[in-house]
Formats: sequence, structure tokens, C-alpha cells
Amino acid sequence: MSMPLSEESPLSVPQFTAMKAEGRKITMLTAYDYALASLVDAAGIEGILVGDTLAMVVQGHVNTLPVTLDEMIYHAEMVGRAVKHALVVVDMPFPTFHLGVHPTVANAARILKETRCQAVKIEGGLERAEVIQALVSAGIPVMAHCGLRPQNIHQLGRYRVDRDAEKLLADARAVEQAGAFALVLECVPADVASRITQQLKIPTIGIGAGAGCDGQVLVLHDLLGLIEGRKPRHVKAYADLKSLITHAVAQYRDEVRSGAFPGQEQSF
Ligand code: KIV
Repeated sequence: MSMPLSEESPLSVPQFTAMKAEGRKITMLTAYDYALASLVDAAGIEGILVGDTLAMVVQGHVNTLPVTLDEMIYHAEMVGRAVKHALVVVDMPFPTFHLGVHPTVANAARILKETRCQAVKIEGGLERAEVIQALVSAGIPVMAHCGLRPQNIHQLGRYRVDRDAEKLLADARAVEQAGAFALVLECVPADVASRITQQLKIPTIGIGAGAGCDGQVLVLHDLLGLIEGRKPRHVKAYADLKSLITHAVAQYRDEVRSGAFPGQEQSF
């Protein structure tokens, strides 16, 4: 098959996985639309996750459960169009990977067919091994997600740290063996995450899992300080966009009311 000449090629799944063996830290962030995905990509972040957190930070729901596969695909299309360099991974929303192996493969295949994204992420460990194997053998790369599983919120009662070290290790081994190319560890004690990272060949990407992981992921809206009242302990806000935006909008409002905008420069 001839290679396309004009397309820039994004980071591939094998290149992403190889970063662990090369001793390079992996940076990953969420993005949900064209404008912000372009900026994240241009900044040199290696992995972009179209996370189901979009249910919360974009759609305004209280948890990640309501977002649908069609909505994930809608956002993944925008991100896929924007990204030139990073590997783009799309969350499979609840319950699109719980309905049996064949529907799961069909749902994940839609993501790869209808967007330009290269991989899916699913929450779960040992109990998801069969589904991960089926996806991988269909040519669909899988990032696994262990530790806190936000889609289990109703079973958990609240978002909390997963401290069951032996289960976490068993889950991590199982998803690696099933063929996952990377593993997100969410809200896991740092020493457990380090042990898992040492035992796996595939990279671990931590969120609230300490510095011993092979990479880190954050929700972009948290990093940018965009969301009112939302600041889990593991989040570091690198900007205060909420204040900046509020200030800019208020200034615009005042200038329109006072007649200062539009001025000569903005007029024809
Ligand atoms: O949906 C998401 O944004 C995630 C990250 C928190 C890892 O799964």
C-alpha cells in the first residue's frame, strides 16, 4: 500500500508505548473541541484523551454516566480534526462496553471509523480482560483504566482512593496480558502505583497516583482553572481562566453599555 504523502502522522500507539522503555515521561491531557485540542497538540502533549469527563465539564452533568456514544463521537471528530501530533484516545462511555463482546467491538469500531482518533479507553481490570482481548484482536488499541472508576459512582457512593493493592496489581497484570497498550491509574496510593509501574511493560498514566507513573493525565478544564468549585486534591490549576474570562466578559459588558466599544478601530 502506498503511504499518503501530505498527511502529517500523529504519534502511533507503538511509539506511545515505547516511550516507557525509552525512559521518557508521557504527558496527557483531555480535550473536547477543536480550539483547545489544537492548543494542547501544539504545546507538544503526547496523548490527548477525549474523556467522558466531558459529561461534567462540558455538558454540566453531576457525573460521567449520561454522555452517549454519539456525543463522544461528535466531540472526538472535532478533536481528531485538530490534532496533528498527539495520539488521540476516546473514552468508551457507560455502558457501551458492558453489553457483550460483539456490541463492544461494534461500538469501539464506530469511534475509529467515524473520527480520526486511534484508540479507545475503557474502565475496568481483570473483569474486562475478555473484552480488551476482543478489541485488540479486531485491531482496536485499548488504554485500560484501573483504580477509581468514575463510571461506578453509584456503586462506590463517592469518588475515593482505591487502596486495594493486591486487586490493583492483579487488574494491572490482567489488562496488560489482555493486550492493553497503556493503563490509566486514577486515585491510587503513590507507592502502589509505583509498584504497578515497575511490574508492567506498558506505560502507566497517573491521575492522583503519584510521581512514580510513566506519565500523567489531567482534565484540561481543571488545569486551566475553568470550573467553579471543582478542585479535587490531585489537581493542580496552572491558570485561573475562570477569573480571566469573567473579567473579560464584564469589561466587554461595561464598554458596550458606556459606548466605549466599538471604537474607531473596530468600525468601518
Ligand atoms: O474521562 C476522563 O477525563 C478520564 C481522566 C480523568 C483520566 O478518564
